[in-house]
Amino acid sequence: MKNMNKLSKDWWKERAMTIPDIKTELPGPKSKVMHANTARYMKGLSTQVKLFPVCFEEGFGITLTDVDGNRYLDFSSGIYVTSLGHCHPKVSEAIAFWAKKLMNAHDFTTPVKEKLMEKMASVLPGRLNAIQLYSDGATAVEAAIRAARAITNKHEFISAYRDFHGKTLAAVSSARMNRGGTLSYGPTRAPGFYMVPRPDPYRPLWTKADGTIDTDAYIRFYEQFLTEGTVGNIAAFVLEPAQGWAGSIFPPDDFFPKLKALCEKHDILLYDDEILAGMGRTGEWLTLDHWNVIPDIVTFGKSFGNGFPVTAMVVREENGEALEKISASSSYGGNPMACAAALASIEVIEEEGILQNVREVGNSFIKRMNKMKEQHPIIGDVKGKGFLLGMELVKDKKTKEPFDEAGKLVYQKAFRRGLAWIPAGHILRMSPPLIMDEKYAMVGMDIIEDAITEVEKELGYK
Ligand SMILES: Cc1ncc(COP(=O)(O)O)c(C=O)c1O
Repeated sequence: MKNMNKLSKDWWKERAMTIPDIKTELPGPKSKVMHANTARYMKGLSTQVKLFPVCFEEGFGITLTDVDGNRYLDFSSGIYVTSLGHCHPKVSEAIAFWAKKLMNAHDFTTPVKEKLMEKMASVLPGRLNAIQLYSDGATAVEAAIRAARAITNKHEFISAYRDFHGKTLAAVSSARMNRGGTLSYGPTRAPGFYMVPRPDPYRPLWTKADGTIDTDAYIRFYEQFLTEGTVGNIAAFVLEPAQGWAGSIFPPDDFFPKLKALCEKHDILLYDDEILAGMGRTGEWLTLDHWNVIPDIVTFGKSFGNGFPVTAMVVREENGEALEKISASSSYGGNPMACAAALASIEVIEEEGILQNVREVGNSFIKRMNKMKEQHPIIGDVKGKGFLLGMELVKDKKTKEPFDEAGKLVYQKAFRRGLAWIPAGHILRMSPPLIMDEKYAMVGMDIIEDAITEVEKELGYK
C-alpha cells in the first residue's frame, strides 16, 4: 500500500481558503429538485434535513460542497463521524486499497485486522483489549449488552435520562422512548431496562446548600434504586460519558469516579458508550480519561473509521473469555476495508497531533462561547470539552425555558451564511472536524453569533 505517512497535516487548507462561499439562494435550485425527488420516496428524514433540505455532493477536509456549487464550513463532521476531515487522504486510500484487494473474509484474520488489534490494544487504557468489531453503533451497543450479561450472569440495566445509544431494542430501551407527538420508539421498554436522572449542571435535580450540583445525592438515589426499583440483578450502568444528542452535557468532575465506586461496591459493570464522544473528540482517546476512570466495557463508532461504517465493542482483558459466549461474527464486522479505515484513523490521530489540537482550539471555543453568553440574552448556557460543544437557547435566563423557535431560526440563518451544522430544538450542537484550526473555528463562531444577533432582533430581544 502507498505510504501516506508523510502527508502534511495542512492537507485540507488550500481547498478551505475561501469558505464559506455561497453563490445561490439556499437551498439552491438543483438542491431543491434533487431533495424533492428523494423525499418523495425516502421517509423519516431528520428535522435538520427537513428544515434545510440542501443536497451535498463533495466533502474535503472541513469543506462541504453542494450540488449548486456552494461551499460550506463544516461544523458537524457529518454527524460526529468524519472527525479527521472529509475524505482524509490516508483513510480514504487505505479503504480504497482493500476495496480493490479483499472486501470480505467473514471473521477470518486478515493482515490489516492483525495490525488494527495491536494498535487498539496499544492506545486503549487499563487492559481494555478484548475486542469485537461491528458495522454500526447500535449493533455494537447490543453486543455490549450481551457482553455485560455474559460477564456477570445478571440481566438488568440502568441508563440515564437524555442518554442516547441508537435505535435497536436494547439501545432504545436505554434512552428516552417517548419522543413526543407521533414519534415513538415504543410500544414498551424491553424488560429489565431502567432509567434514572443523571447530573446536568445547568438543570440540576439535586443541589447543595450553595446551589452547586449535588453529585452525592444522585449516587445515593442510585443506591436506593438498586433495592427499591430493580429485582437486584443489575449487570451494568449504560452511559454516555458526555451526552451528545442531548446537547454536549458534561457531568460534574466527581460524577464518574463516584459512580465507578458505587458500581464496584455492588458488583455492577460500568459500560461507557463512547460512540459519539470517543476517539479524540473531547481531547482524549476516551472521554472518561478526563476523570481517570477506566470502564469495564466501551464502544466506539462514528469517528472510529472517519466515515467508513466500522464500530467496536471492547471489554477488559480479564473478562475477554466471557466474549466467547457471544459470537463476534457478523456479515460486515471487521471486513478489511473497515479495519483499514479504523487503523488509518488511529494513526492519523497520532501522527497529526489531533488530541493536542482539540485541546488547544477547544479552549478557544469555550472562551468564545462564554463571552457570547455574557453578551446575548437568549444564550442560557454554554458547555463542552474539546470539539464536543453546545449552547442552550432560552426565553429567559432565570426561568431557563427552552427557546425552540430561536433554535430553528439560528440554525437556518447560520446555514444560509454557509455553516453546515446540526443543532436540535433549542440546543445548538457543534462538532467540527478535529483538524480545524483557530482561524476557521472563529469563522464558524462569527457566523453563529451573527445569526443569534439577527434572531434576537427579530424576536424583540435587542
Ligand atoms: C452515544 C451513541 N451511541 C450509539 C449510537 C448509535 O450509533 P449508530 O447510529 O451508528 O447506530 C449513537 C448515534 O448517534 C450515539 O450517539
